[in-house]
Amino acid sequence: MDIDKKVWEVLCSEEDILNRLNELGTEISDYYRGKNLYIVSLLKGSFIFTADLVRKLDVPVKVDFMTTSSYGHGEESSGSVKIVNDIKGDLKGYHVLVVDDITDSGLTMKSVMDHLKTKNPEGVKSCVLLDKPERRKVEIEPDYVGFTIPDKFVVGYGLNYGDYYRNIPYVFVVTDEDR
Ligand code: IMP
Ligand code: MG
Repeated sequence: MDIDKKVWEVLCSEEDILNRLNELGTEISDYYRGKNLYIVSLLKGSFIFTADLVRKLDVPVKVDFMTTSSYGHGEESSGSVKIVNDIKGDLKGYHVLVVDDITDSGLTMKSVMDHLKTKNPEGVKSCVLLDKPERRKVEIEPDYVGFTIPDKFVVGYGLNYGDYYRNIPYVFVVTDEDR
């Protein structure tokens, strides 16, 4: 895909995202009040979402990062998820919330959650900015979803194409000029 020859269509504007962050911040804070919240953010895609989301929480929170293998420079998942960089230590006593940019096939979220469960946490839930349920290959429904979107390749607000465009402050779809 040559991104320069495509049309950008805004799917979630900065305002949409800010409004949803406020709602998610309240909902997540309410659930984790009185619990030891430990956010595990999946790099690189969720770095912007995580940074904005944690600032909407009014409960104590620890934040850590994991890196998993991703799409690379293409649009299709390789099918297997590798943990490139794990979090250190045990999660005993913590309620883990895995934060990712998007759940597509569900393979990443499912394998990360299964992996973290082996570290003895009190519980593991998931939060994603975007959910593409039509693309699911494994059974998983994220606990907190920013926006449910159709089956389109989206970029911006942390999501990349060829490792670029993560800095664009809104989520957009790249559509073919000819379509
Ligand atoms: P899954 O394992 O198929 O659910 O894919 C999850 C990962 O693929 C996400 O963390 C993203 O990094 C990447 N991904 C999936 N769909 C898109 C997209 O539309 N744009 C950019 N990255 C995507
Ligand atoms: Mg990712």
